[in-house]
Amino acid sequence: MTTDPKIEQLRELRKQAAQGGGPERIQRQRERGKMTARERLDLLLDKGSFHEIDAFVVHRETNFDMDRQKYLGDSVITGWGTIDGRLVYVFSQDFTIFGGSLGMVHAQKVVKIMEMAMRNGAPIIGINDSGGARIQEGVASLGGYAEIFLRNTLASGVVPQLSAIMGPCAGGAVYSPALTDFIFMVKDTSHMFITGPDVVKAVTGEDVSFEELGGAMTHNTKSGVAHMAANSEADCLYLLRELFSYLPSNNMEDPPFKPGKDDPLRTESALNTLVPDNPNKPYDIKQAIKLIVDDGEFFEIQEHFAQNIVVGFARLGGFSVGIVANQPMVLAGVLDISASEKAGRFVRFCDAFNIPLVVFEDVPGFLPGLDQEYGGIIRHGAKLLYAFCEATVPKITVVTRKAYGGAYCVMNSKHIRSDLNLAWPTAEIAVMGPEGAVNIIFRRELANAEDPEQRRIELVEEYRNRFANPYTAAERGYIDDVIEPSETRPRLINALNMLQNKRDENPPKKHGNIPL
Ligand code: HXC
Repeated sequence: MTTDPKIEQLRELRKQAAQGGGPERIQRQRERGKMTARERLDLLLDKGSFHEIDAFVVHRETNFDMDRQKYLGDSVITGWGTIDGRLVYVFSQDFTIFGGSLGMVHAQKVVKIMEMAMRNGAPIIGINDSGGARIQEGVASLGGYAEIFLRNTLASGVVPQLSAIMGPCAGGAVYSPALTDFIFMVKDTSHMFITGPDVVKAVTGEDVSFEELGGAMTHNTKSGVAHMAANSEADCLYLLRELFSYLPSNNMEDPPFKPGKDDPLRTESALNTLVPDNPNKPYDIKQAIKLIVDDGEFFEIQEHFAQNIVVGFARLGGFSVGIVANQPMVLAGVLDISASEKAGRFVRFCDAFNIPLVVFEDVPGFLPGLDQEYGGIIRHGAKLLYAFCEATVPKITVVTRKAYGGAYCVMNSKHIRSDLNLAWPTAEIAVMGPEGAVNIIFRRELANAEDPEQRRIELVEEYRNRFANPYTAAERGYIDDVIEPSETRPRLINALNMLQNKRDENPPKKHGNIPL
């Protein structure tokens, strides 16, 4: 039976569109350890769920003989599909066509998909693999980028925006992922920078490799630009799917409720001995988190950056929660510039998307020093404070040990609208640690003491007994209850149930002025 020639033509065009930049360029892509743009979408989305649009779009550039080089769909694939049955909008840049570079129609395709995502309340996932602005199209490419930046900004806080970097992402092009909520990078094959190694060498004389300048580990450990470093592209796509399971589709929805097999009433006696007797000895707060949350599953965000604070997603009795925890294992869990920025941004994400916040607090204060003061710890620390203050989602704090000074106020204290503040009996809630406090208030007495060292030890002990406990704060109602560590999980799940219908709002305003 012969097929209708019009249908033949359509099939032929579809085949062409699926070929990208041709077998040679696809081969080169593979040699670099990279998948094609379509293979990535296949792995990211549920099998067979991808629906492509704009596959027949071609560029309209005529300079530099461009009218003789046209590829159906141009250098980006756009459409929608599902992850675990939930709708997402996607774009995937195709490096095999003009190096995935962004010209006018590439930008128009991305903008179209972003607008659909915003209108229909579903997340946008962008896979970036591009040489940047299409040089042949000049200023039209710049305009295209700016139009995407505008949509990224308008979509911020409306639908989750996730970015995967799976190749080069350079120059102004980095600002689209930078405006999204989470950036995932792949070790060895993805790079982000404002100017490449050659320009850096010419301008500053610094010799630096691609990897050192803008590789996955650079942005996951040093700059804090990226949130996840995947071992491979497949790993990266898998992690994106996992992150998505904790998120609602838009700001009007609650996150998915997924009750599992883990008993909500499970107690954990190991928690009763987790905090060492010696207040200067560290312990791993991640161990506590894993013992408390459903099935021990903690999806950590920015694991390698500012490790003195731990942030990430988990479930408690099926509720998706955002966890923020000081990490006594690193810098004694102190708050510094990087930790404040990392946690501040995370808190704002959770608040924007109705994800309750659970805080584990063990913080000796803000980090002292010239570096911190000159770097603006006042301004950056205020970001975290601002984020917790403005958040209206259910907010719960568990003080495991230290809650000292300004850091006490910042870490979701009762005074800044936390809903429930619990403390373990090991909690020490005071203006400052015993040693610091004794040195200041007993300075004169110590100077005149017969044996100043012995007297200092006595005074520190006295201060510790009087103030380094949860009960002075509990007497005032600043701590709602002191609990046995073992019962933390059932208490938190009970609180999340109790807060399910929480309604709170901020005064009407155009927007606040977070100390950026
Ligand atoms: C048009 C481009 C391109 C670009 C690469 N190609 N970048 N075409 N515009 N920006 C094409 C190449 O001509 C080549 O085409 C194919 O893509 C693959 O490129 P290669 O150089 O062979 O690949 P590779 O060796 O892997 O190097 C990748 C690269 C390099 C590091 C990205 O191509 C590169 O440095 N490109 C230029 C990057 C750049 O300066 N972009 C502009 C940045 S400014 P063929 O036909 O041979 O396959 C910018 C501003 C944005 O982006 C501002 C927003 C506000």
